[in-house]
Amino acid sequence: MPMLDSRQMTKDVKRIGVLTGGGDAPGLNAVIRAVVKSATNEGIECIGLEDSFDGLIYPERSRVLTPRDVTGILRLGGTILGTTNRGNPFAYPVTTAEGTADYSVRCVENFQKMGLDALIVIGVPMVGVPKTIDNDIVETTMTFGFDTAVSFATEAIDRLHTTAEAHHRVMVVEVMGRYAGWIALYSGIAGGADVILIPEIPFDVNKVVTRIRERDSWGARFSIVVAAEGAHAAGGEREVAIAATADRLERLGGIGAKVSHDIERLSGKESRHVVLGHLQRGGSPTSYDRVLATRFGAYAVEALVRGESGVMVALKSPDIVSVPIEHIVGRTRNVPVDGDLVRTGRHVGICFGD
Ligand code: F6P
Repeated sequence: MPMLDSRQMTKDVKRIGVLTGGGDAPGLNAVIRAVVKSATNEGIECIGLEDSFDGLIYPERSRVLTPRDVTGILRLGGTILGTTNRGNPFAYPVTTAEGTADYSVRCVENFQKMGLDALIVIGVPMVGVPKTIDNDIVETTMTFGFDTAVSFATEAIDRLHTTAEAHHRVMVVEVMGRYAGWIALYSGIAGGADVILIPEIPFDVNKVVTRIRERDSWGARFSIVVAAEGAHAAGGEREVAIAATADRLERLGGIGAKVSHDIERLSGKESRHVVLGHLQRGGSPTSYDRVLATRFGAYAVEALVRGESGVMVALKSPDIVSVPIEHIVGRTRNVPVDGDLVRTGRHVGICFGD
């Protein structure tokens, strides 16, 4: 998409397209609302594109968005535009000999036919607004959706403490986090977990069992283990539920069950597992995510009006800034294993299985 690669816009921005892509995250609607309101205030017309790039591939799946259309959506989870994590225009899932088709040229042509001057892309790491509950996008302190997911996971851990303690059990909670352990780390620290397993620190289940026995020896008699879905044993592999295909990433799942089973086998202690799954992506965004999403949406329009494109808006605390897209694409922001968060966890006695 050549028009997205240049950071200098050559003409005034009069009409922009806005779309949401990838997995949903709480706060998407807050960004859409902020974009539409800020753009309208600047005299810019907004076109909402449905289901990620589908709205560009099939222009009939697009519509004008006015402030009236976004009234009342700030607190709603999901996205009024719909989304997909299978709509990559460069490898679109249609039936061809190759299995996918390259629709990027068609997108550029339709972009021009629709009279668009720019795109605000929420959730696709190409230009625009960083969205993911996983918080694994580089160059931004925080993505929106993360705080809501962590709050939900923390509440789940709080609730699981009750049964763990009453039944003297181990409870293993599997949270999302494909390649980065931010949700596990934050919710584990916030929820007072005893063990946190993240992809960045391969674990030894024997060390986990040792920690559980230590807790039993001083009378705790229960333990809470939080495992990111991408966590894996040292020398082992991630638990892949469905392998990757040309148009989508692998689907992970199963580490919670595996760890729980191994703990019960090795310790003789009763252990149960819970998978929080998509519950983490749903529901109403927290106030933090609403504010962050609103700041991102408004800043995206500000950046366009200033003549920028080919950038992603980002939080560089305490400011919102824009960063060149090429600094982001293809990179993952992992948990620094010697960073203060992991050190904090260790200081308060959390075992990382290493
Ligand atoms: O990318 C965010 C994420 O929540 C990952 O943590 C998780 O692996 C993935 O989405 C699940 O996506 P899907 O909705 O396709 O199952």
